[in-house]
Amino acid sequence: MEKIIINGGTSLKGEVSISGAKNAAIAILPATLLIDGICTIENLPDVSDVKQFCSILEILGVKLTWKSKHEVEVDTRNIVKTSELDITRTFRASYYLLGALLGRCGNVQVGLPGGCKLGARPIDLHIKGFEALGANIDLSQGNISATCKRLTGTTIYLDFASVGATINIMLASVLADGTTIIDNAAKEPHIVDVANFLNTMGADIRGAGTDVIKINGVKKLHGDCTYSIVPDQIEAGTFMLAAIATKGDIVVKNCITKHLESVIAKVVEVGGNVDSNGDKLRVWMKKRPSKANVKTLPYPGFPTDLQAQMGVVLSLAEGTSIINESIWDSRFQYTEELNKMGAKITSQGKSAIFEGVNHLIGAPVAASDLRAGAALIIAGIAAKGCTEISNLEHIDRGYENIEEKFRNLGANIKRVQE
Ligand code: EPZ
Repeated sequence: MEKIIINGGTSLKGEVSISGAKNAAIAILPATLLIDGICTIENLPDVSDVKQFCSILEILGVKLTWKSKHEVEVDTRNIVKTSELDITRTFRASYYLLGALLGRCGNVQVGLPGGCKLGARPIDLHIKGFEALGANIDLSQGNISATCKRLTGTTIYLDFASVGATINIMLASVLADGTTIIDNAAKEPHIVDVANFLNTMGADIRGAGTDVIKINGVKKLHGDCTYSIVPDQIEAGTFMLAAIATKGDIVVKNCITKHLESVIAKVVEVGGNVDSNGDKLRVWMKKRPSKANVKTLPYPGFPTDLQAQMGVVLSLAEGTSIINESIWDSRFQYTEELNKMGAKITSQGKSAIFEGVNHLIGAPVAASDLRAGAALIIAGIAAKGCTEISNLEHIDRGYENIEEKFRNLGANIKRVQE
C-alpha cells in the first residue's frame, strides 16, 4: 500500500501551476459520445478518474489516440455498445453516460453505485429530466436503463441546483427535437466548460453559468475541433488554503480568479493577503488565521469541495469557527483525522465547530475522500512532526502529482510503498 509521509512545520513558498479541472474532464469525455466524428481534448488532468473514464469509453468502442498525457484524440464514429455495468458500478461520474448515450443512440444501461462517503447520492433529478424529455427509465438490480426513440425538448425545473443533473440533462437535450430549458440550473465553472465544448462541436446552448440554460436541439454534432479543459478552481483553492494554513507565500498560476471569488473573500476574512494578476494569484499569510464562519453553497458560493481544506485553516485559527455543510449529508469525516493531530473539532450532522489550536501535531491519518485527503496533506505540512497519510487512491482520483507540486513549494513530502 502507498503512503504519503510528511515532515511538517514548513511555510510553503514558490509557484504552482494548476491542471485542467477533473470535474470538467469527466463530463466532457462522455460528452464526446454525442459527436459522430473525431475531436481533440487538451489540458486533461493526469488523474485516475480521467483514466477510468477513458477505459469505459474504449469498452463502448471509442478510439482514443494519446498525443501526450494531457491531450487525446477521441474518435466516436463507431460506438459498438451502449451498456456497461461493471466499471460504472464503482465509478459515480459514469452516470453522465446516461445523458450522452440517450442523446446519441436512444438507449443506455449502466450500473449505479449506492451512496458514498459524502452521504446519500440520489439521481432523482437526473431521472426527472430524462423522463421529462420522453425517456423510459428502468431501475433494477442496481442498474439503470434509459430508452427513447426521439427525445423532445421541454422545460425542466431542478428542485436543487444539482451539478450532475444540470450536465446530464444538457447532454441528453443537445440532439433532442425542439428546445429544452433547464430552470434553477447549477452554475459551476465546469458546467460552462461542458457547454462551451458542446457549442464548439456544433451544439446550440445558451445561458450556461446562469440559473436558466436554454438548449436548442440540433441534428448532429461535428468533430474536427480541439478543446482545452478549464483550469481546476478546486485545485487552485486547495493551494490557496495551503498557503494560509502554513503561513506561506505562493503564486498560483494558470487559474481563473473569477472562479475563486468566494475563496478569496474567505482568505481575506481570516487575515490572508491576495493579489491577482491575469491568470496568476499570489496568496500570502504573515500571522495566525482569525476565526471565520463558513457555509458551503452552490457556485458562486463557497465550494463544498474546499470545505475540508478550509477546516484545516479554521483548526489553526484564533477563536472558535463554525462550518455549515449545506450540500452533502456527511462531509466531516476528515475532522476525526484532524482531531488525531490535536485539532479540537466537534461535528454534528451538517455542522462542525472548530476551536482553534496553536499548532497541529503529526500523526498517522487516512483519507476518506479526495478533498479530505488534500486537507490532510495541508494539515501534515502545517503540523509539527511527522504525518503518514493512507488511502491515497482517493487523492489520486482528482489531484495530479500532488506531492510533487507541494514538494516544489518547499514541503518535506514523499510517497512511499509500504
Ligand atoms: C458534483 O457532484 C461534483 N462531482 C462534486 O465533487 C461536488 O461536491 C458537487 O458537484 C457539488 O458541487 C463531479 O462533478 C464529478 P450535485 P454531483 O448533483 O453532481 C443532491 C469532488 O470532490 N442531489 O450537485 O453528484 C445530492 O444528494 C466531488 O470533486 C439530489 O438530491 O453533485 C447532494 O446533496 C465530490 N438528487 C446535492 O444535490 C439528484 O438527482 C449536490 O449534488 C442529484 C443531486
